[in-house]
Amino acid sequence: MIIENLTVRFGSFTAVENLTLEIPPGSVVGLVGESGSGKSTVAKAICGLVRYEGRMSGVDPKRVQLVFQDPYASLNPRMTVGASVEEGLSALPRGRRKDEVERLLSLVSLPPEFAGRYPRELSGGQRQRVAIARALGARPELLVADEITSALDVSVQGAVLNLIRGLQAELGLSMLFISHNLAVVRYVSDVVAVMHRGRLVEIGPAERVVGAPEHAYTRELLAAVPRLRH
Ligand SMILES: Nc1ncnc2c1ncn2[C@@H]1O[C@H](COP(=O)(O)OP(=O)(O)OP(=O)(O)O)[C@@H](O)[C@H]1O
Ligand SMILES: [Mg+2]
Repeated sequence: MIIENLTVRFGSFTAVENLTLEIPPGSVVGLVGESGSGKSTVAKAICGLVRYEGRMSGVDPKRVQLVFQDPYASLNPRMTVGASVEEGLSALPRGRRKDEVERLLSLVSLPPEFAGRYPRELSGGQRQRVAIARALGARPELLVADEITSALDVSVQGAVLNLIRGLQAELGLSMLFISHNLAVVRYVSDVVAVMHRGRLVEIGPAERVVGAPEHAYTRELLAAVPRLRH
């Protein structure tokens, strides 16, 4: 997907200003920046949830799936895991949906029995896996992951990040991976883009941005983040 000159205004406030960013097919682009820098607003613009100026091309908006920070909010508490995942499979003939639910659960390393469970019976990390399985069921061209590990314990964060890396390798997904934590972004991303007050201040290969940041703000972010152990 190519995003060109994206600007999002809320009244007189400009949340995103003239942002240009390419997410090449099959690659993970990490978007990092402090709270309020405009990351979620970029995600919402990509998914058509806010009005924006600028151009998006290369991906059918219907083939974009968004996974949020809070899997409590994205899963219906009254639906079993299986029913939640199956909901997105309406394009498949009824008879093939059960197998597909199993396949999706196994992609996110959950045993098939989990299909019968309710969200409240799952840990935070397991719920986030279900939310990812559900999103994958729609066979997205682009997955937008907005702070999907932020609500999780550090020990579980690592597992979800490894899952993302595994899925990327296996499915060749394109992904915009958003986090305020540069260490987390670096771990899963090919390219890292740094946002500050609505603007992109630096972009480059993950190794380079983290190893030799060019912008003072990136260096500040690097100094501030706790190191991710894995
Ligand atoms: N619907 C809205 N109306 C007005 N202002 C908004 C709206 N949505 C977001 N903003 C403002 O836009 C700015 C960017 O918000 P955004 O949610 O994109 O930040 P973020 O980088 O995702 O932050 P965080 O890391 O805390 O999730 C913030 O100053 C926020 O208050
Ligand atoms: Mg956000």
